[in-house]
Amino acid sequence: ADVGAGEQIFNANCAACHAGGQNVIMPEKTLEKDALEQYLAGGRNAKAIITQVTNGKNAMPAFGGRLDDEAIANVAAYVLETSEAGWD
Ligand code: HEM
Repeated sequence: ADVGAGEQIFNANCAACHAGGQNVIMPEKTLEKDALEQYLAGGRNAKAIITQVTNGKNAMPAFGGRLDDEAIANVAAYVLETSEAGWD
């Protein structure tokens, strides 16, 4: 996956709710390492992020109709890598 392309996709599609890896709608459900481990269905891994981005969940919209599979894989790789490195 292309993490650099994923960063651009994130800034265009995700940052409205997840700027800095945070969550403006459900503040505890951040994109930080510990929150992904605790809350993300299926655990902190690329497949689980891809599933949630494709299908959406509650107040988070589905991106399956707006982003193609490659774009979703790239943004998932960016989220996973940045959760490891730290969003700050
Ligand atoms: C949760 C990624 C766009 C609202 C999450 C989670 C991930 C994620 C990985 C799980 C976090 C956790 O459980 O700790 C993304 C990506 C996006 C995106 C990669 C862009 C492609 C958005 C947008 C919104 C949003 C635009 C607001 C309109 C939410 C909400 C949750 C969430 C409300 C919590 C869902 C729940 O468990 O009820 N997001 N997100 N997301 N996201 Fe997004």
